[in-house]
Amino acid sequence: MTFENINVEKRGAVALVTLNRPKALNALNTPMMQDLAKAVDALEADDGVNVIVLTGSEKAFAAGADIKEMRPKSFVGAYLEDFITRDWERIATCRKPVIAAVAGYALGGGCELAMMCDFIIAADNAKFGQPELTVGTIPGIGGTQRLTRLVGKSKAMEMILTGRQIDAVEAERAGLVARVVPAASLVEEAMKTAAQIAKLSRPLVSLAKEAVNAALETTLTQGVRLERRLFHATFATEDQKEGMAAFSEKRPPAFKNR
Ligand code: CAA
Repeated sequence: MTFENINVEKRGAVALVTLNRPKALNALNTPMMQDLAKAVDALEADDGVNVIVLTGSEKAFAAGADIKEMRPKSFVGAYLEDFITRDWERIATCRKPVIAAVAGYALGGGCELAMMCDFIIAADNAKFGQPELTVGTIPGIGGTQRLTRLVGKSKAMEMILTGRQIDAVEAERAGLVARVVPAASLVEEAMKTAAQIAKLSRPLVSLAKEAVNAALETTLTQGVRLERRLFHATFATEDQKEGMAAFSEKRPPAFKNR
C-alpha cells in the first residue's frame, strides 16, 4: 500500500501507519485524511492484520488540522462540504484495535486524532493541547467531547479555553494516555503491545472494544446489560473453549478467530 502522505508497513499481524508530512509537522489536511481513511478501509478488510498502530514523527504526532487549508474557508462552504467529517473520523469507526503512539506535538486535530484511537501510548516528550481558540476557531473533530469524557470537565475546559499544553506525565495522570515510555522506544513499545493483542482472538477483542466504547455512550445500566450480552456471546465461540481448555491444560492457547 503506497500513499503520498502516510506510510503503511505490515509487521506480522500488526500494521504500522505513520503520518508523513514532516514539513508541516504532520498537520492534518484533506489529502492526508483521505489516505488514512483508505488505509483503514484496506487494513480492516485484511485478514492478516489484527491490530493497527498509528504514529507520527519524534517531533510531532500531528500539530493540528492544517491551518493553511482552513484559512480561506467560509461557513457555507465548510457546512456544505461537511468539512472534517467524511474520512477524518474513519479511524474512530475501525473495528480492529488502533493504538496511537504519540511523540512530540499532538495539538488540536492531532490530539483529537489520537483520542479517536483506542488508547494512547505517549513518549516522554509528548505534548497534548487544544489551541484552536488561539487560531480563531474551536476544536472540530471531537475535542470538546472526547477530551471532556477522558479528563473531566475542569481540565478539558482549562485546556480548551487557554490552549495550555500538557506534557506526557500530566496526560497520564489525567487519564488521557495509558502509559508513558522513553521517546527512543515509543514505536517499539507500541508494536510490542499491539503484537500482544494481535495474538488474542480477533472476534473477542472486537467484542471487548465494543463494550468499553459503549461506556462513553450509554447509562451504566445499559452498558452493563450490553456487556453481559456480549459476555454471554463469547460462549458461542470456539476461542472461548480453546482459551479455557488451554488454561486448564497449562498450555498457551491457539486462538482461531472463530
Ligand atoms: N497547520 C499548517 N501548518 C502547520 C501547522 C498547522 N496546524 N502546524 C505547523 N505547521 C507548519 C508551520 O507553518 C511551518 O511551516 P513553514 O516552515 O512553511 O512556515 C512548519 O509546520 C513548522 O512549524 P513551526 O515553524 O511553527 O515549528 P515550531 O517548532 O516553531 O512550532 C508548533 C511548533 C508549536 C507546533 C507550531 O507549529 C504551532 O503552534 N502550530 C499550530 C498548532 C495549532 O494551532 N493547532 C491547531 C490547529 S486548528 C485545529 O486543529 C482545528 C480542529 O480542531 C480540527
